[in-house]
Amino acid sequence: MIETRLITIGETIDEEELAQVAAALVKGALVGMPTETVYGLAGNAFLPEAVTRIFTVKGRPQDNPLIVHLYDKSQIEQVVSEIPALFPILYEAFCPGPLTMVMPKSPLIPDQVSAGLDTAAVRFPAQRTARALLRLANVPVVAPSGNLSGGPSPTKAEHMLDDMRGKIEYILDDGPCDLGVESTVLDLTSDPPRILRPGVITADLIRQRTGISVADDQSILAKAARVVPASPGSEAERSLQDSEGTWIPRSPGQKYRHYSPRAKVFIARGNDEEQRSDYIIAAIAQLLEKKSGFFGSEATFNLLAKKLTAEQDGLPVLNNMVTYLYPGSGDDKIATHELFSAFRALDKAGVEIIIAEEFPHINYGVAYMNRLERAAERE
Ligand code: TXA
Ligand code: MG
Repeated sequence: MIETRLITIGETIDEEELAQVAAALVKGALVGMPTETVYGLAGNAFLPEAVTRIFTVKGRPQDNPLIVHLYDKSQIEQVVSEIPALFPILYEAFCPGPLTMVMPKSPLIPDQVSAGLDTAAVRFPAQRTARALLRLANVPVVAPSGNLSGGPSPTKAEHMLDDMRGKIEYILDDGPCDLGVESTVLDLTSDPPRILRPGVITADLIRQRTGISVADDQSILAKAARVVPASPGSEAERSLQDSEGTWIPRSPGQKYRHYSPRAKVFIARGNDEEQRSDYIIAAIAQLLEKKSGFFGSEATFNLLAKKLTAEQDGLPVLNNMVTYLYPGSGDDKIATHELFSAFRALDKAGVEIIIAEEFPHINYGVAYMNRLERAAERE
C-alpha cells in the first residue's frame, strides 16, 4: 500500500502544486488525471517501469495498448514516426478534444505502450487540469481510463479513489468529467480511416466538419442488429461480421469484457418511453423479483411505475427497485454523462440487475449505446 494523495483543484489551478505532481509523474509516479471524457491513470510514457505499473494496478491484459496524451501538436514527433496527411485536418477540427488518432509509432515509445503494435494512439485532451499537467510534465503521458480493468470508467475523482486508493501516488480532483464517455479512437493507418471505438466525435460529425469519410462498422452494425431486439447485448457482438462473414477487428481493447458493473445489465429497448416501459414489463418483468436497479429518465420510470402498479394491483414490486434517474425524458447527452456513474452507484446499492434505457444511435447515442451494449454482453 502506498499513500494516495487527493488534490482538489480550485477555481484557478495552483501551478506550483501541480508542478510538484508533474515532477513526480516524470519520475514514475502514477496520477489520477481528470479529462473531458473520463478520469485517466497517467504515467510517463517514456518510462517502461511506469507503463508496466499501470498495467499491474489496473489488472489490464498485456496486449491492450495505451493512449499517449499530449498538450501540444509539436510533441507529435516524439510519438509518431510518420504523420498521416489527414492528421493536421482532424487536429484543426477536433483538437484538443475527445478524438484519439492511431498513427505509425516512433521507436522512442516503449513497446509496452503499444502492446507490441507498430502504431501509437495519440490524443490531446481539452480538460484544463490535464492540459496543465501535460504542459508542466512536458513528456508524452500514457493514460488508460482509471478503472480496474473490465469495470466502468471513472467519471468523478471519488470513482478513482474507489478503484485506485493505496495503489497510486496522486489523484487530481477537478470535479465530474464533461462528457462521461471515452474518446473516439480513429485509425489513420487504414484507408479510409476507421473508427475502432465510438465516442462523441461520430463519423457524421467528422464528415460534416471536415468532409472526410470514415468507416464506422461497429455503429452501423450495432444499428442493424437492432432489427432483432429480442436478446439484449449479444446480437450486436455476433453481427460484427461483414457480408462475407469476416470478423471485423475492433481496437485491441474492445475484445475484452468492458465497462461492466458487477450487476447484470439489461437494455430496455424501444423508441420512446411508452415502448421502453412496455419492453421492461413484457421482456424482463420477471427480473424485477430480483433486487434490481433502473437507470433512465423520470418520464420512463413514472410510466413504468404506473403500469406495474396497475397490473399488479398495487403490489410493491417497485419497492425493490433502486433508481438512478435523470430529469424529464432525458437526452442522449445527459444519459451518456451519467451512464458509468449510474453503474457504479447501482453496484454500490447492491443490485443484481441493472435495467438501462436504449437511446437512438445518433449523436451521443452512438457512444452511449456502444458502451451499454458492451456492458450487457457479459455472461
Ligand atoms: O477518453 C479516453 O480515451 C480515456 C482518457 C483517460 O483519455 N482513455 C481511455 O484509455 O479510454 P483506455 O486505455 O481505457 O482505452 C484505450 C483504447 C483501447 O480500446 C485500446 O485498445 C485502444 O484505445 N488503443 C490504444 N492504442 C491503440 C493502437 N495503437 N491501435 C489501436 N487501438 C489502440
Ligand atoms: Mg478503459
